[in-house]
Amino acid sequence: MARRAPTLTRSAPPRPQANPLRAGLRLERVPEPACVVVFGATGDLTHRKILPALYNLRRVGLLPPETTVVAFARRPYTDEQYRAELKEAVAQFSRVPIQDALWDDFAAGIFYQQGEFHDQEAYKRLSQRLEQLSVARGTRDNRLFYLATPPSLGPTIIENLGKASLDAEGRGHGWSRIVIEKPFGQDLESARELNRDVGHVFRESQVYRIDHYLGKETVRNLLVFRFGNGIFEPIWNRRYVDHVQITVAESLGVEGRGAFYEEAGASRDILQNHMLQLLSLVAMEPPIAFDADDLRNEKLRVLRAIDCDWNEERVAHDVVRGQYGPGWVAGKPVPGYREEPEVARDSTTETFVALRLHIQNWRWADVPFYLRTGKRLAKPATEISVQFKQPPLALFHDVQQNPEPNLLAMRIQPDEGILLRFVAKVPGLGLDVRSVNMDFTYGSSFVSDTPEAYETLLLDAMLGDASLFTRADEVEAAWAVVSPIDRMWDQWDQSGNRPQFPNYAAGTWGPEEADRLIERDGRRWRRL
Ligand code: BG6
Repeated sequence: MARRAPTLTRSAPPRPQANPLRAGLRLERVPEPACVVVFGATGDLTHRKILPALYNLRRVGLLPPETTVVAFARRPYTDEQYRAELKEAVAQFSRVPIQDALWDDFAAGIFYQQGEFHDQEAYKRLSQRLEQLSVARGTRDNRLFYLATPPSLGPTIIENLGKASLDAEGRGHGWSRIVIEKPFGQDLESARELNRDVGHVFRESQVYRIDHYLGKETVRNLLVFRFGNGIFEPIWNRRYVDHVQITVAESLGVEGRGAFYEEAGASRDILQNHMLQLLSLVAMEPPIAFDADDLRNEKLRVLRAIDCDWNEERVAHDVVRGQYGPGWVAGKPVPGYREEPEVARDSTTETFVALRLHIQNWRWADVPFYLRTGKRLAKPATEISVQFKQPPLALFHDVQQNPEPNLLAMRIQPDEGILLRFVAKVPGLGLDVRSVNMDFTYGSSFVSDTPEAYETLLLDAMLGDASLFTRADEVEAAWAVVSPIDRMWDQWDQSGNRPQFPNYAAGTWGPEEADRLIERDGRRWRRL
């Protein structure tokens, strides 16, 4: 999608059954050989996402055979023990069944390096091992450091990488890049500090802040849909759009991550990153080119245009927080958030947030953006819907059923697709009109293998394409929207003005106040 720097191009190996719908699609590119160094190598993210993604990239021929993985973590393991543990994890989490021969070939390039994150000597040993492996495996001294560690360890690891000169590029070195997982900071101040720490060691062009939503096929398609078609952009503005809704609904709870979630809540976990990224893609101006900086400049302009002048009254009026109590999900009883492991019995952490935002620029002035996200909602559904204004003259006003306004819904997951709602005449002698849907689904139009977000993003980082990663200023602009709200909630909690939690039952669509937030404007949440 993005314009990329020229690199070696190799076609993917032939697929078992040639798919006519893929005919003419461009060939994917293969990055230079590199060594991926994963910090936090025994954690959940490495097992569930990073290694399955690398394995699948290798499987489809998008990583060169020299690709090497060095896992850096505290626990003692031999290379063999670590490979065996990973094989189990990849077999469990890979999107396609593992092939033994291919795994053996891939696993021969996986190595384990034991070390404490704060121990400088451990980084010297790591550096020596990388030099040896570069020669032995032909990785040309290219290094991709992946921080899959709790955020608090980030600054220590980054500082130590710098002290061991592992950030060095050029003059006898290959490239050196660092991928940093979300959450990037806890609020605006800590994000700024982290950006400063990173900036002391790495140049911005070496830094890849990951938000896996940007790697989802349907999210990437948002840009193609908006800027690859000529007919939508002219109506994509305040003149025609009544309002925009963005929903990120999950039916899952905190899934054993109670301790992490107590610190995060829905606002820091989803709103600050995934949702504001979706909003910036749907609201941005067309970039002058599809390269990393042009894209990110436009996203940044949207984030900066969001009215974040929050005061008590506005937070109370435009933002709703919620927390789930016990309920039923998919026919099974589930506990409330306060009964989850590692969660305080009187926790005020929000598992739901809904809010109304305004983007103060020429395109969007006076168009409300309603956002909602929550855990343990009725069903998983991520969708952006753009609702258009009613036609200027109600010619069909005497019909019984009031036609609904035009709507364009982009379903990010599941049932990925795009739906356009319009009004049609009901067949018959009368003049009944009704809303109907024109529905595009990915599954039926492209019978292709959809890569996981982590595959797309890891490949991009290795190719040196930062288009789908967030830049320092972008992350800070997103925190500037969310931090004042978090701060206000903390103040209210401390001053005894605590929320009445739980305020929604698991398996529902969130607290009633969220309905009132939109209904008082004469609108309602789309039923998903
Ligand atoms: C993560 C959050 O970033 O995104 C999780 O930390 C959340 O709490 C997850 O469940 C949702 O991602 P996806 O890809 O399942 O929509």
